[in-house]
Parts: sequence; C-alpha cells; structure tokens
Amino acid sequence: MVLPRKSVSEETEEPASETTESKKKLESIDDLAGVGPATANKLIELGYQTIESLATAAVKELTPAGISDKQAAKIISQARDSISIAFIPANALIKMRENVLRLSTGSATINDLVGGGLETQTITEFYGQYGVGKSILCHQLCVNAQKPIEQGGLDGGALYIDTEQTFRPEWIIRMASHLGMDPEETARRIIYSEAYNSDHQILLLEKADKVIKENNIRLIVVDSLMANFRSEYLGREMLAERQQKINKHLHRLSRLSRAFNAVAVVTNQVMSKPDAFFGGQVEPTGGHIVAHTSHTRIFLRRTASGPVRIARLVSSTYLPEGERLFKITENGVEDIDEGDSAKD
Ligand SMILES: Nc1ncnc2c1ncn2[C@@H]1O[C@H](COP(=O)(O)OP(=O)(O)OP(=O)(O)O)[C@@H](O)[C@H]1O
Ligand SMILES: [Mg+2]
Repeated sequence: MVLPRKSVSEETEEPASETTESKKKLESIDDLAGVGPATANKLIELGYQTIESLATAAVKELTPAGISDKQAAKIISQARDSISIAFIPANALIKMRENVLRLSTGSATINDLVGGGLETQTITEFYGQYGVGKSILCHQLCVNAQKPIEQGGLDGGALYIDTEQTFRPEWIIRMASHLGMDPEETARRIIYSEAYNSDHQILLLEKADKVIKENNIRLIVVDSLMANFRSEYLGREMLAERQQKINKHLHRLSRLSRAFNAVAVVTNQVMSKPDAFFGGQVEPTGGHIVAHTSHTRIFLRRTASGPVRIARLVSSTYLPEGERLFKITENGVEDIDEGDSAKD
C-alpha cells in the first residue's frame, strides 16, 4: 500500500530512541514513539490493540497499516523491549518458564497425567467423539481458572470462543455453586463470543488482545477449533488454503497464550483413520498443522460406565503417554471414586 508522504513523515518525526526512557513499560499503542493517532487507529483496525500483540507481530503483518517495513520493525522492537520478549539468553527463558502456571482440570488424576494441570503459555487440545464431554470440560476450566493460584486456578477470567453454539451458562452456574463460588460473579468473568464462520473465528482471535488484557483473561477456549473450517472448506482443492488459515489461527492463539501467560485450550472432533485396517480407529481432524501446533493433545473417550471417561495423553513435548479415568457428573469434572466401575 502506498501512503501519502505527509502522514508517514509526520509519524516518523519522533524516532524510537535507545535511551532508558524508551525501555520503560509501555501501556498502550499511543505510548509508542513514532506512532501518531492515524497509525494507531490503523493498527487497531488490523487487530493490534495492545503492546503485547505488537510485540509478537511480524513486520509484514503491520505494513498494511500504511507504514514502512522500517517503521513496523521499530514499533515491534519497542513493544518487545517493553514486555521483554526480544532475543533473550536461555537463562532468561528459564525465568519466563518460571512464570508458567498450571490450571486444574477438576480431576487430580488428570492433572497428574498432564504434569500438574494445564500449562500456561501453551495450547492444549482435547479431542474425541461427540458427546464425550469436551465442552463440559471447557466450561469446568472456565470456572477453575477463576480460583486462586494456590487452589489450582489462574486468578483470572476466561474467554470462550464458541463455534457450535454449545456454551451453556447453566453449567457454569451449577459448577460454580458446587465449588462454593459466587455463580453470578463467576459467569460475569467469562467473556463469551460466538464465531459465525471461520473468518469470523479468525478475526475474533486477531482482535482478542484488548479484551484479554482488560478482563485479566488467563484462559482462552476455542470450542471447537475445526468445525467451521470443516464445513466451509470442502474437497481437496481447498485443503491447502484451509490448512494455511488454521496454521495462522493457531499461531495467533499460541502467541496470545505466551504474551498473557494464559492457558489456551482447543477442542477437536475425530474422524475414522483412512488407513485403518480395522474399524473404530479414529484420529483428530486438522492434520499435521493441528498436530504440530498443539503442545499437548488429550484423547477423550467413553467407557461402559455412564459418567466415567478415559483421558489419554497422546502427545506432549515432555511427558510420557498415559491414560487415566475421570468422570463427568452434574457437578462437572471430577475424580472417580470406588463406586465407579469402568470398562472400556
Ligand atoms: N448435567 C449433566 N450431568 C451429567 N452428564 C451430563 C450433563 N449434561 C450433559 N452431560 C453429558 O455430557 C455430554 C455432552 O458433553 P459435551 O457437550 O461436553 O460433549 P462434546 O464432547 O463437547 O461433544 P461435541 O463433539 O458434540 O461438541 C452428554 O452426552 C451427556 O452425556
Ligand atoms: Mg462440544
């Protein structure tokens, strides 16, 4: 895009200086040196509403705001300085990892399976057949995220992106009441958004940083990741485009989880394995892109005993595979007790 020279020069008058002044924590886009109101508005329109989102942006993603590569790089560098995620020595990375928190699933056994709870700064994927309890689990996480850190929570709110219109506030009310939390207040701290189609779903995450920041969101749920994409991109010839969009969408989610030290959760459906010799073998949808971008993948399945479910840790960057039982009752996600039998 070619910009009138005037607006560019106007907004580059004030170069980003390397003084300690420019390294102080920036609160909003308006605080960036060299960004005038016009550019700020364009960046916001593009979905970059906070310093955190700019810090993780790529130069080419900012140039549509009508700025040069150089200016975009300068903006990104200032934003990175401000939230200190530029090039960093590995020991600083260890420090960043020290900030990782773990969110309780509601079942101590499942927490144990995933190393103590779902990790912030990463994406966890739950996949399984319809009705297995993926959405219920997401509801439970939205409630649990609000608990204090000492109690397995993240002391924050939740963002729920719903692509299948299956969000049920009644579940939230019931789960919160069961845990002795204020149901109304718990529901208030869950920010809900329905994604009408895949483009809308992508846009919601692109624009999510402001709402995340303002509401102290520490859990981002996309339930489900693939439904819109699967119904809109039909046939082989559309596959490449679909995968490219999903890739971008997931990377955006991953960046948000790191920038805000939040847990990201996506749900996924399953399909029959095309090359399976025997029936009944399933795999999550979305192919390699989803498989590689989800840091932790958990396969949920039913058992012969109504409420009891099996969670299988299928892939994790550092934990061994394994299976554990848990149950879904009207109270939400719980550990099984001696009375529960489970036959696969
Ligand atoms: N109050 C309740 N108590 C116990 N189980 C319930 C309750 N409400 C719903 N369920 C169970 O949860 C299942 C629905 O779970 P959920 O909607 O989380 O599934 P899902 O995995 O998200 O499915 P989908 O792929 O269709 O989105 C129902 O089949 C039902 O068995
Ligand atoms: Mg569901």
